[in-house]
Amino acid sequence: DLFNSKDRPRPFYYNGVKFGPIHSPDAMDMVESFEVRDDDVFISAYLKSGTTWTQQIVSLVCAEGDISEVCKVPILRRTPWLETLDMKGTGEPMPKVLKSAPSPRLMKTHLPYYMLPRQARDGKGKIIYCARNVKDVVVSWHNMRLMTHNLPCGTWEENFKEFITPEQAYNGFWWDVIPEYWRHKDDGNMLFIKYEDMKQDLRGHVVKIANFLGKTLSDQRVDKVVANCTFTAMKKSPSTNFTRDPTIQEAFSKAKGSGIEFIRKGEVGDWKNWFSVEENETLEAIHREKMAGTDLTFQFE
Ligand code: A3P
Repeated sequence: DLFNSKDRPRPFYYNGVKFGPIHSPDAMDMVESFEVRDDDVFISAYLKSGTTWTQQIVSLVCAEGDISEVCKVPILRRTPWLETLDMKGTGEPMPKVLKSAPSPRLMKTHLPYYMLPRQARDGKGKIIYCARNVKDVVVSWHNMRLMTHNLPCGTWEENFKEFITPEQAYNGFWWDVIPEYWRHKDDGNMLFIKYEDMKQDLRGHVVKIANFLGKTLSDQRVDKVVANCTFTAMKKSPSTNFTRDPTIQEAFSKAKGSGIEFIRKGEVGDWKNWFSVEENETLEAIHREKMAGTDLTFQFE
């Protein structure tokens, strides 16, 4: 039981990048040479940036009419996490398990662009990348650590400092990872979307994702997808709020008694409830410097 075992690996470094204990070095070793199919979809995002939301949209879009059945299957079974072990199944590295999975394979990943399967970087399959304004990412990540049994959690101040320190940040330094994906936004097999834009126009993004995946959905079907992708629907649904899976549920709020839920607040600008004036100035200085060379902008409120 990888979520609850006391022997679970602690955070580890891979290619110089720090990863949380759910990631698996054995799985990551198999990612580079993973054989990609034309109809594969990689749903990629930095942690706490709308990964689960995008997974839900993509899997419902791909299911077209069959939404009610799909919504009964836990999100991580519909869209398995590439660089982990098959936690609820064989325990084997997911890339190995996925070899025999039927098409289309929809896969979640938190890997930086350069660690994606070589064939995906060469244009095979499709990549949907979801990015979120960094201030809300820090806050969401802190809350995730408050609720997650197996993730070490410091105070808000400590977690903030860790996030803005390149060698200490989990899953890579935000200001390295996101600009790298952005540089590939016009690649033929890449769709780059933003959390804040999805908040503003969910329906538009469902259609955009459907078009990108070559699906033509009737207005009625789009309505059905949208209805099952709202914050309220996903907070309520056991297949997306992680209460369906007893193991994961235990690793979360129950174990720490935090009362925080995975589908937590879903807002733009929650950082204002957490950041001190100094923290805001520190982060903005980094942001200005690191983003100077890109035309990628975010909405912060
Ligand atoms: P908050 O902690 O700010 O609420 P990820 O899936 O990448 O871990 O991202 C989790 C964040 O996405 C959480 O943010 C969660 O509430 C938010 N989220 C999940 N589903 C959402 C939805 N349908 N609409 C808006 N936000 C959503």
